[in-house]
Amino acid sequence: MKYTLNSVNSLRGDINIPSDKSLSHRAVMFNAIASGKAKISNFLMGDDCLSTIDVLSKLGVEIKVENNNVYTYGKGLNSLKEPKDTLYVGNSGTTIRLMSGVLAGRKFKSILDGDSSIRKRPMKRIIDPLSMMGANISANNNNDNAPIMFDGGILIGLDYDLPVASAQLKSALILAGLRSQDEIIIREKAISRDHTERLLSAMGAKISKNNLEIKVSPSDLFARDIVIPGDISSASFWLVAGAIHKNSDIFIRNVGINETRSGIISVLERMGAQMTFYNKVDYSGEPACDMNIKTSNLKGTTISGAEIPLLIDEIPIIALAAVFAEGETKIIDAKELRYKESDRISLTVNWMKSAGAEVQELDDGMIITGTGNLNGGTFSSHGDHRLAMTLGIASLISNNNITIDKAEASNVSYPSFWDTLKNLGE
Ligand code: S3P
Repeated sequence: MKYTLNSVNSLRGDINIPSDKSLSHRAVMFNAIASGKAKISNFLMGDDCLSTIDVLSKLGVEIKVENNNVYTYGKGLNSLKEPKDTLYVGNSGTTIRLMSGVLAGRKFKSILDGDSSIRKRPMKRIIDPLSMMGANISANNNNDNAPIMFDGGILIGLDYDLPVASAQLKSALILAGLRSQDEIIIREKAISRDHTERLLSAMGAKISKNNLEIKVSPSDLFARDIVIPGDISSASFWLVAGAIHKNSDIFIRNVGINETRSGIISVLERMGAQMTFYNKVDYSGEPACDMNIKTSNLKGTTISGAEIPLLIDEIPIIALAAVFAEGETKIIDAKELRYKESDRISLTVNWMKSAGAEVQELDDGMIITGTGNLNGGTFSSHGDHRLAMTLGIASLISNNNITIDKAEASNVSYPSFWDTLKNLGE
């Protein structure tokens, strides 16, 4: 689908943000392998999370979807059944990586596979430690790419330094650790999103944390009702739109602000964004609040090191903010971005350069010099939801029309994105 959009004179709105994708995956997955009935309210009905429901249903778990709620009827960790078909995850990295931790060591054969983007993404980082734990796993290209085949094995303990700061890798190992014969110990390189640890602990898992070290002992899980807050990664598009547009005043409701996800707020504050926060609440152990953002005079900044995992999905939209910030913005230590739904370093640099921005590509990031100017043009999302939405925001402030090819990629995490975009501008 192609959308051609032009800039707007003002941005005004009160936006209800879609539910958190990471939490929606985890809420349904963990309840599906727990014992008991659970209601997950405000579930994200995006393509990725629906893939997780589909995979769990094919493993024999009873799951009902009603409006925005999901009901799970879990029968415990050992109740999963051998699937008849390949388990297809679509575009969802979270599904394939977390489910690898669930399927490792199961006493049946199963195969996880996904779309062309998933088949290119690195899986060795999960397969190696799960194999060290005793799982029988094989995959394409020297055990690095989907499809991934699981064929039993007996899980034993593990003492392991994670080679990348990845919540998906960490979560896969924690899930396998729940059914290992012995305790597992893993050490993160830097803190990554901690939804798995929070939720599993609340469901009865024996998990302890000491800074970067996590210990998991064999545990049973008990089902738990969960209300999902809005997704800060989705909110970030409106935060940046509000900050860089010359005439804006936007309210964003119900945004999850877990500190392992809210790096974009610290960065925008550092850049000088005019943001206000209201009505802080707690959703099943996850904090959330309402936000207001207004036209701001942004300044460049440096984003590096331990801050990167706290805003990894927001870098394409932060790069756009940097074009409208005074001075230079340097994003480094972010090589992981090359292994997301697309190579987000190269695609971001390419579209921004074609639109006239001053950007230099680095192996692990980019340097953007703020010029306050973006020309129009036709750009493809390359099937990456976050690029599609970044291009949508760019169209609100570009000098000429922007045509976004493959705009429908946004359905993965934000099905109502284009409707909201159209309602916001005047
Ligand atoms: C996610 C973790 C991140 C993020 C992805 C969702 C998760 O990936 O980019 O969109 O739900 O755990 P990594 O943990 O691999 O960096």
